[in-house]
Amino acid sequence: MADKRASEILKGARGEAARAKSSADLEQVRVKYLGRQGILTQFLRSLSSIPVAERPEVGREANLAKAEIETLLGERLAELKAAERRHALESQRVDLTLPGRRPSPGTLHPLTLVQDEIIEIFLGLGFAVAEGPEVESDFYNFEALNIPRDHPARDMQDTFYLSEDVLLRTHTSPMQIRIMKAMRPPLRYIFPGRVYRRDIADASHSPVFHQVEGLAVDRNISMGDLKGTLELFAREMFGPRTTTRFRPSFFPFTEPSAEVDVRCFLCGGEGCRVCKQSGWLEILGSGMVHPQVLRNVGYDPEEVTGWAFGMGVERIAMLKYGIDDIRLFFENDLRFLTQFA
Ligand code: PHE
Repeated sequence: MADKRASEILKGARGEAARAKSSADLEQVRVKYLGRQGILTQFLRSLSSIPVAERPEVGREANLAKAEIETLLGERLAELKAAERRHALESQRVDLTLPGRRPSPGTLHPLTLVQDEIIEIFLGLGFAVAEGPEVESDFYNFEALNIPRDHPARDMQDTFYLSEDVLLRTHTSPMQIRIMKAMRPPLRYIFPGRVYRRDIADASHSPVFHQVEGLAVDRNISMGDLKGTLELFAREMFGPRTTTRFRPSFFPFTEPSAEVDVRCFLCGGEGCRVCKQSGWLEILGSGMVHPQVLRNVGYDPEEVTGWAFGMGVERIAMLKYGIDDIRLFFENDLRFLTQFA
């Protein structure tokens, strides 16, 4: 009597494979029939217990059934996989005709724009640009600039000291010394860069800010050249009708010294909140290079003279754009930054 079990197992497997709705379902069918504890596997294992005479025939049928189950599972798996792939493509469809997301390009920082503008003006006047270290020695920042030992700027309160002799430069003036020591006159340079002071940040103070320093040294350089240069600068920067005023001042490294004001372009000189009712806005400090400073770098003040100036980039930018809080430059709020592009 032929054993019907192999064909029954095959029939069962065929039906279940056909009903499997996913490759995961189908895997369960495979385990159920062909797994280590699977129905067919167990059947093959039990062949040793049937009569010897029947064994070849039943064994052959069992092996055929196994091969057939493997084939039908393979075919059904391919079908289900194809369906699953179609479904995935359908549900994750990418519409290539949709407009792309526009990348928003960065803009130059307003301080960069203003600094570049300052540099452009002086390049046009024949000045060269040089940059120097923000970490300076006491010698370049103070000593060589004729700033005496007991000057308040040297106080721990005002200067960031890294050690007794090393500090964060409090102005760009140390570059005057560096360039004069490195070169011989005639010199015409500007020095843009970052400077540091121990100030608490408020609307008009920041512990880090930017300056552009200027220096000209040659035979017969006069205060008149300084005045003409800075008047031209002010008109280029703030408009052709800008009026300037030179006001006597004091710096240890210039003599005589002058601060330069521009007529308040908000009120036209009438007096307002921005110019604090004075009608004038201070834009920079300047003066003739002090003879002692020239001697400090090995120049003969009888032979050469020079002048220097230093301006705050933030201050110029605030005046030019009517910005009333210096902290806006450092907060990186795009609503502020993108207004200047
Ligand atoms: N270094 C001075 C300051 O920071 C500005 C200055 C520069 C004045 C050059 C005169 C000459 O205030």
